[in-house]
Amino acid sequence: MSVVKINVLTVPAEQREVLEQRFASRAGAVENSDGFEWFELLRPLEGTDTYLVYTRWRSEEDFRAWMEGPMKAAHQGGGEGAPRQKPAASGSTLWSFEVVQQAGPKGAA
Ligand code: HEM
Repeated sequence: MSVVKINVLTVPAEQREVLEQRFASRAGAVENSDGFEWFELLRPLEGTDTYLVYTRWRSEEDFRAWMEGPMKAAHQGGGEGAPRQKPAASGSTLWSFEVVQQAGPKGAA
């Protein structure tokens, strides 16, 4: 059973571009992590200041292993070895779910 881990980021309007640029130059390490299934950065359309970082994992254990290792390196920020700047997000909360049902379009893999 896959698990979904969503990091909920509070991002003030003037920090949106900074946040999106940081993700654009993100480490890209998560793609190589065991049990990683999906990532999306979700920008709010309804006038809130809440971005969602959606990730899906094969299991809770795979997510924990990522958190304890590659996650830390992937959050050094800035890309290309730049030093850590002030966080673009003013707050964060981790949401956890398990996938109980799913569907895709007919004919898709
Ligand atoms: C303290 C709270 C957190 C903040 C403020 C934050 C913010 C960020 C930012 C700005 C980036 C872009 C790279 C960088 O500049 O470091 C990033 C990367 C990422 N974050 Fe977070 N993050 C936090 C915790 C988490 C957690 C708990 C998850 C778990 C769902 C997560 C998932 C990811 C993923 C998957 C990436 C891309 C890593 C890669 O490409 O290898 N983050 N995060």
